[in-house]
Amino acid sequence: MCGIVAYVGPKDAAPILLEGLQRLEYRGYDSAGVAVVAAKALKIRKVKGRVADLASVVPARFKGTLGIGHTRWATHGVPSDVNAHPHPSADERIAVVHNGIIENADSLRQRLEADGVTFLSETDTEVLAHLIGRTAKETESLEEAVRRALKLVVGTYGIAVIDAERPGEVVVARNGSPIVLGIGEKEMFAASDVAALVRYTRQVVHLEDGELAVLRADGFSTFTSDARETAKEPFTVDWDTGHYDTGGYEHYLLKEISEQPDTVGRTLRGRIDDRFHIAHLGGLNMDARESRSFKRVKIIGCGSAYYSGQIGAQLIEELARIPADAEPASEFRYRSPVVEADTLYIAISQSGETYDTLAAVQELKRKGGRVLGIVNTVGSAIARECDGGVYLHAGPEVSVASTKAFTSTSAAFALLALHLGRVRDLSPADGRRICDGLRRLPEQIKEMLTQEEHIRELAMRYAKDAAGMMFVGRVRGYPVAREGAQKLKEISYVHAEAYPASELKHGPLALIGPEMPTVAIVPDDELLDKNLTTLGEIRARSGRILMVGHRTADQADDCIVVPRNETELDPILLTIPLQLFAYHAAVALGRDVDKPRNLAKSVTVE
Ligand code: F6R
Repeated sequence: MCGIVAYVGPKDAAPILLEGLQRLEYRGYDSAGVAVVAAKALKIRKVKGRVADLASVVPARFKGTLGIGHTRWATHGVPSDVNAHPHPSADERIAVVHNGIIENADSLRQRLEADGVTFLSETDTEVLAHLIGRTAKETESLEEAVRRALKLVVGTYGIAVIDAERPGEVVVARNGSPIVLGIGEKEMFAASDVAALVRYTRQVVHLEDGELAVLRADGFSTFTSDARETAKEPFTVDWDTGHYDTGGYEHYLLKEISEQPDTVGRTLRGRIDDRFHIAHLGGLNMDARESRSFKRVKIIGCGSAYYSGQIGAQLIEELARIPADAEPASEFRYRSPVVEADTLYIAISQSGETYDTLAAVQELKRKGGRVLGIVNTVGSAIARECDGGVYLHAGPEVSVASTKAFTSTSAAFALLALHLGRVRDLSPADGRRICDGLRRLPEQIKEMLTQEEHIRELAMRYAKDAAGMMFVGRVRGYPVAREGAQKLKEISYVHAEAYPASELKHGPLALIGPEMPTVAIVPDDELLDKNLTTLGEIRARSGRILMVGHRTADQADDCIVVPRNETELDPILLTIPLQLFAYHAAVALGRDVDKPRNLAKSVTVE
């Protein structure tokens, strides 16, 4: 999704902006641009294509110590040089970069056109540039000009604005699209993602929705939309540039899959209590009595986060015996949900910035709901909005497809379910069983990863020429099947469907045949026999079967055998081979593994 970088300080801005934009490339984009101010004049370069293409058209004389940069992911108008940001005002005094969507852009554009303004691009952002350009002529400060213009706007935005007449400051503002300030030594940065800042500073400040900030080389001030100054406490980010390198792997995705013994280990570290066989989750901000008081659990998230929420719901039902279910946050927020005082709401997000999930949390909070977050990005909007929660500590996830955040979220849910279970009726013996099982996970993930070559060979055989693939599982295996299908389709573009195994004969069995192989998730649990019967039914329709489970079976053509752990924790280990399968299918098909077409990391628009 779009990325923003801004700089003000003593150095040449362009190299810093280009480097920052490169760090944001992982989020997906189709064009890029930069603007700097020098000698009270604005210079802009923007191109359709990659940041490297932009760098090649930025001349050596593109000097200026104040600037903004952008990577664009098209929403209004095709990817093109002219639609790329920054957008200048009509008098070429103001330049704006923008993430988000201005919903009333059409009517504002009509009004401006009626007033004689000529638009160069098809973007909603250009409306902002003209509005700020006009108000800047009437106001004493850029900050006031931006504030006034934003009052006319309906929609979401993270923006950075510079003014050739005021070469010492950048104004940034946020409403629904993240903006982070980076505090340097006599220099200030801003970006839509800390990834663009960590090379220069670890001291950051997050803007809240409705806030605006003025950055100067010697510091910053933040304000509410009605110009009241706000006090911000900077915090230190513990992610560094190494997290954003491929570390010798061919792709970030493979690096992130391979990191999982460590990342799951970090999610669990210091949180397993061997004395009482419970989990320590200080961030929940709830005592035992409160933890016991909930009658239901509702989990929300989008995409893979939602599937990990399904795993979480099962863990909570099994270990804590509290009715729990998961729902896509994007659906939940639009159906005017009934919010109950005795329901615990849990929002899941790797980025902590997914707009639909954030909006769902805000809706819950507005109605008085108690919301916990299971979030990877410390200090992100969703984390800030929640009443408490669990951080994953999985490190930044760079590849667009989620892998390590998925397994860490599932591990965090196991901890939460253990906690909720042990303040209720889960016995100490069962508590100990789960604690021991959790502790075994990192080693078992490592063991699983040693099967990469076998899985690569299966991916070549099954996915490379398949018209499509079916993924099936029952109960604990079903969210795993959904995640397996999701990974395959998003990075390899092979059509993949996931179904509960029990639902096959209610329709999708019609699709089964030699050209539609099935990946069947068949753990050794109480449903093993039922699952093997389903495999028999698929086989009887000439369907090829790749079984992922704890044993081999005659009904399957091929098997991937996963280490055994406690039944409740099976989904975590069963997911790993499906990630490797999708990865190798995508590589074999020559796909852009880390940046699949049409997708973006962190969907900060509706
Ligand atoms: C799939 C994937 C997406 C995200 C979803 C939510 O591989 O990455 O489905 O899981 O967009 O993102 P977060 O977790 O950042 O809220």
